[in-house]
Amino acid sequence: MTSAAPAQQHARPADTAVPLLDVSELQIELITDAGVVRAVDGVSFRIGRGETVTIIGESGSGKSTTAMGVLGLLPADLAVLSGAVRFGGTDVVADPDAIRAVRGRTVSLIPQDPMTALSPVHTIGRQLTEAVRLRRPGLSRAAARERAVELLDQVRIPRPAAQLATYPHQLSGGMLQRVLIGIALAGEPELLVADEPTSALDVTVQAGILDILLELQERTRIGILMITHDLGVARLVSDRIHVMRDGRFVESGEVEAIVDAPTHDYTRMLLSAVPRLGPWDEEPAAGGPGAPAGGTTPGGRR
Ligand SMILES: Nc1ncnc2c1ncn2[C@@H]1O[C@H](COP(=O)(O)OP(=O)(O)O)[C@@H](O)[C@H]1O
Ligand SMILES: [Mg+2]
Repeated sequence: MTSAAPAQQHARPADTAVPLLDVSELQIELITDAGVVRAVDGVSFRIGRGETVTIIGESGSGKSTTAMGVLGLLPADLAVLSGAVRFGGTDVVADPDAIRAVRGRTVSLIPQDPMTALSPVHTIGRQLTEAVRLRRPGLSRAAARERAVELLDQVRIPRPAAQLATYPHQLSGGMLQRVLIGIALAGEPELLVADEPTSALDVTVQAGILDILLELQERTRIGILMITHDLGVARLVSDRIHVMRDGRFVESGEVEAIVDAPTHDYTRMLLSAVPRLGPWDEEPAAGGPGAPAGGTTPGGRR
């Protein structure tokens, strides 16, 4: 799919003509006790309908600051943004108040740690129906509940109606992350921002979550900004990858180009840090006890 980009652009001009998200020369300075840190230093990227764009980099490279900045979730007194972050025609750097109309509707966040993202004292059903009614205030309780069941079903939670009565502590990390994706989808967004959505989970559980996101994207053509330090994840889900280091993109391109022919030493280092799985393997998989645990589906996506 990625290698056919020009043809695709031709066939579906609307997909790429107006990106869902257009970030241009974004700079973010954080005001800390130790002084001002330029955590993001002039990054630019675009995400169109149905595309997954991944920012990959080591811990501390500025990935989360980029994501939170795009979502307008950095405290105004601690973060100074410049450049442009456009959702459709709206630049939320120039007009920070506009992000409120965008967040949870045009764009939703899937958080990194599913264990702490939900309120422990309310049921899954309550938290999900609240999110549904935030988007559709006119819905009756019964209709909101029905929609909540539908969302849990979409994220492949078994017996969704029965799960509404459960509390977060009764569910596993993987199930909680599914609930959080359901909550993100309650806003009916065009774009999902997923900040290391699977890094707190076991590799087998991780594969299930990524599969849900990919299937969702195929069905709804939702855009995804994926943040990860894991090249296995990036390889599986991405159309384009931006490799981040010290607040900048050191390398950007289509996934195959970056993985097969990295030009930057830093990217090579990231590549060498993960076990190579699937079709990019240079040698046949060893099988047996040394075989990879299967964090990603062999064969990839495209
Ligand atoms: N709350 C904060 N206070 C001070 N510095 C921070 C804070 N959050 C992030 N930083 C700094 O910003 C840089 C980027 O961090 P972050 O965006 O969290 O990286 P990543 O998500 O890639 O691990 C790092 O140098 C980090 O030390
Ligand atoms: Mg982070």
